Amino acid sequence: MAPKILFLAGSARKDSLNKKLAKVAYELALEQGADATFIDLRDFPMPIYDGDDEATDGLPENAIKLKQLFIEHSGVFIASPEYNSSFSALLKNSIDWISRPHVEKERPLSAFSDKVAALASTSPGALGGLRGLVPLRMLLGNIQVMVIPEQLAIGGGMTAFDDQGKLTDEKQQRALGLIVARLISETSN
Ligand code: FNR
Repeated sequence: MAPKILFLAGSARKDSLNKKLAKVAYELALEQGADATFIDLRDFPMPIYDGDDEATDGLPENAIKLKQLFIEHSGVFIASPEYNSSFSALLKNSIDWISRPHVEKERPLSAFSDKVAALASTSPGALGGLRGLVPLRMLLGNIQVMVIPEQLAIGGGMTAFDDQGKLTDEKQQRALGLIVARLISETSN
């Protein structure tokens, strides 16, 4: 059976470069035979995590929906923007909410344990958001996600994509294909 892999960006922005990058990876995964799903975090708005709100109202409906998607997929590809040398608050808030248990006897971190992840980033700057991937990799490792060692940070993101939804640099397109292949192979184990 083809591995189920979720593709998302840590940006909700309509013209997000990282959404474009996640989309390229998603297309590559389909070409490679994965059962891939692309989601936009804009479709899962949630309040900033607050323990008092959780205690009275439980998880927001969108957190439950997003968590269910994570549970249903064995791999996740995240294209993460870099904000002040870390990843986005949107991504952290989404992860925080869906890390919470909400049904009785749910195993800890059910949205994340046994999950395999691959990371990439792009930004208009020269480093391509690379510094944001360091804390993201650490966070995911701490919540039992196996993050593959290969990653890609694409600088000059404003000119990195063509009209066909591919990376203009063939080497980068190939490198992304290899990352997706490794993600598929690790989720197939
Ligand atoms: C940025 N940006 C940015 N870029 C970068 O390479 N390193 C950084 O530390 C930062 N810091 C930063 C902070 C804040 C608050 C903003 C709003 C932006 C620029 C950022 O990479 C750029 O806006 C990207 O286009 C954001 O990603 P999306 O939305 O295009 O996916």
